Amino acid sequence: MAKAAVAGVRGMNDVLPDETPLWEWFEARVADWLRSYGYRQIRTPVVEHTEVFVKGIGEVTDIVEKEMYSFEDRLNGEQLTLRPEFTAGVVRAAIEHNLTYEAPRRLWSIGPVFRHERPQRGRYRQFHQVNVEALGFAGPDVDAEMIVMLARLWRILELPGLRLELNCLGQADERAAHRADLIDYLRRHETSLDADARRRLHSNPLRILDTKNPALQALVAAAPHISAYLGADSRRHFEAVQSLLAAAGIGFAINSRLVRGLDYYNLTVFEWISGDLGSQGTVCGGGRYDPLIERLGGRPTPAIGFALGVERLVDLLRAAGAVEVAAGCDVYVLHQGGGTQARAFVVAEQLRDAGLDVILHAGEASLKSQMKKADASGAEYAVIIGEAELADGTAAVKSLRAGASTRAFAQQTAVALDRLADSLVEALAATEPELR
Ligand code: HAM
Repeated sequence: MAKAAVAGVRGMNDVLPDETPLWEWFEARVADWLRSYGYRQIRTPVVEHTEVFVKGIGEVTDIVEKEMYSFEDRLNGEQLTLRPEFTAGVVRAAIEHNLTYEAPRRLWSIGPVFRHERPQRGRYRQFHQVNVEALGFAGPDVDAEMIVMLARLWRILELPGLRLELNCLGQADERAAHRADLIDYLRRHETSLDADARRRLHSNPLRILDTKNPALQALVAAAPHISAYLGADSRRHFEAVQSLLAAAGIGFAINSRLVRGLDYYNLTVFEWISGDLGSQGTVCGGGRYDPLIERLGGRPTPAIGFALGVERLVDLLRAAGAVEVAAGCDVYVLHQGGGTQARAFVVAEQLRDAGLDVILHAGEASLKSQMKKADASGAEYAVIIGEAELADGTAAVKSLRAGASTRAFAQQTAVALDRLADSLVEALAATEPELR
């Protein structure tokens, strides 16, 4: 009896070879964009001590309460967690290596993160973030710069139509006063709350403002909002961010119910949302987190950051169809007959020395079947070495692109081996860019 095939883990995706060119295109643009704003990459482990996230993100958050992949190291009993976000780990590393000791730092990361959520389109259990942190900056100029740089990214990626929502969460004492009044208000309406809201009433009442339950919308709209509790400094900070954005021509909406799902935020928080992704439309979320570095044991240091959801952005890029990514190589080398394989090995290496991307046919097969593989590879040119070519020191070159009768090697042509690399480099340079 055949064994049942093994399967991937639910909510964790394979990115297949046909999709990786789009990911690589995205990643290359993101790396250039971050460099142009002075950000440098930091790579932290996928696994941290669980307490990094419990202390950092906050005990009473969905992530820490129910979404973390945590386990005990069988060998030494340490409590470990697969990162559900980057920020806490990056801050842990910055403290451990004194990164903010002498000067502020602009840092970015990319990689997988893990949350045990219910999978649906745009929501996965392993997903990828581009994470960006500015450590040691009190703002509000850096708050605005982060948003301006995101607006530039949408232009680079040609993704118009993303909407920006902003809020100011004030400082801890302002939130405490708001929270007390909010609990008071919600308690007076306790019978109208759903089970989830009732559970959060005392633990995390701010998250009730974020509820998706249609039956609670009116109640939540009439609840006390943080904006009424902001002191003069918080209000000045928020106004400065807004006027810098207005000066930069960036449109936004203030959403006083935007609280974010992580506990470390203060002052500015923001999200960029697409209307084309269904219920999981937020492609970027972030904000200021001045209390976090001290909370994780560092010296008090202001900071702000955001993360992009890579799957959601790749989904938008795919749907926009604007990105033509060539997946093929330059040359496919075929060989047939005694001694030709060894020559083909040498020729393929010489072409690579000249900077070409080359696939060398592996194994033995008829020329016809090798030609099919060459076509399917996406290569621009086939280089054929048969016994006749072996004998007279040439290779036969043939364009693999149909309908290109004006291109070099539209007809199969013999080329002396010592001219082969140069001829192919010239032919490729002359190829119309939209085909490459
Ligand atoms: P976050 O809002 O939890 O923020 O996640 C950032 C982005 O990751 C979201 O806007 C979304 O695009 C994507 N995302 C979140 N969960 C999923 C999921 N289950 N499947 C697919 N994509 C998802 C943070 O993680 C903060 N650490 C951001 C930050 C950095 N704040 C300050 N610095």
